Amino acid sequence: MILVIGGTGTVGAALLPRLAAHPAPVTALVRTRPAHPVPGVRYLVGDAGEPNALRTALTGAEQVFLAMGNGPRQRELELAVVDASARAGVHHLVKLSAPATDTVAVARLHRDVEHAVVAARIDHTFLRPYAFHQNLLRLAPMIAHTGMFTGTTGDHPLNMVDARDIADVATVALTTTSTRGQSLVLTGPEALSYPQVADLLTSLGRPTRYVDLPPERLRHDLDRMGQPSWLVDHILEIQNLTRTHRETPTTAVRAVTGHEPRGLADFLREHLPAFTSQGAARPGGERPITTT
Ligand SMILES: NC(=O)c1ccc[n+]([C@@H]2O[C@H](COP(=O)([O-])OP(=O)(O)OC[C@H]3O[C@@H](n4cnc5c(N)ncnc54)[C@H](OP(=O)(O)O)[C@@H]3O)[C@@H](O)[C@H]2O)c1
Repeated sequence: MILVIGGTGTVGAALLPRLAAHPAPVTALVRTRPAHPVPGVRYLVGDAGEPNALRTALTGAEQVFLAMGNGPRQRELELAVVDASARAGVHHLVKLSAPATDTVAVARLHRDVEHAVVAARIDHTFLRPYAFHQNLLRLAPMIAHTGMFTGTTGDHPLNMVDARDIADVATVALTTTSTRGQSLVLTGPEALSYPQVADLLTSLGRPTRYVDLPPERLRHDLDRMGQPSWLVDHILEIQNLTRTHRETPTTAVRAVTGHEPRGLADFLREHLPAFTSQGAARPGGERPITTT
């Protein structure tokens, strides 16, 4: 059995239907049963922070996929999953992680959890994606209503990757042994700067401008929007990293899945209504606004 933790998240929701097409039974530990459950997936309602729920979910699990949302309890929750997985005799853990860097707190957290997996002697595949294409949907209301978005990365290129490609890689990792022991840095086909993202939207018919801000100004704006302080710090750390370390694409998605990673232009075309006033939600909706 494959246990999926984070099956309602951006990557997990794309992973479940892919896994359901394979013969191995799939269980998803969810805090709330989804409105549209994936046929063939067994849903267990429980919190990964509750030892009993975790133990029950892990009973009979040979492999675990772990995608934990960012937040103040992430380290504690992920370490508890690793510990319980080791006790339950899990053979292989596929962890949604992040590219290695010491200057980003969330990346340090992921590194600590990766070390715990290795120390627990659980076979592993660590998926280290850059920012998801899907993150741009959180900026869509702002772009739809103002025709602009802001950041601090200037002309520096950013690696981005489609969450569906991460799910494709995770599917291979969970249904074959080909990725065991690997740490895979996942990107799309090209690194694009924010001005290039704005140009892409403009060329698709949604005129868009990128406005570069000093970091203190972006921090001020995000604080004013009511974003939690850990998230504001994270956005600024990630964007600072982009300015200081050049990002270049990897070939990992193709090497693992056999197909090219999805490009950003296709993603934006697919989701264009969200970036235009007709299809837009109100800016500053309930989801945190972040480009990371
Ligand atoms: N977004 C990016 O650009 C990016 C880039 C690199 C790495 N990452 C890493 O990717 C991970 C997030 O992946 P994602 O974007 O797919 O996740 P997501 O959309 O934020 O969803 C997080 C998932 O975690 C689940 N969860 C949170 N707390 C839980 C708990 N106590 N018990 C059980 N489930 C719990 C959520 O369930 P509920 O539905 O119940 O909330 C949800 O399914 C993070 O660790 C992040 O650092 C993200």
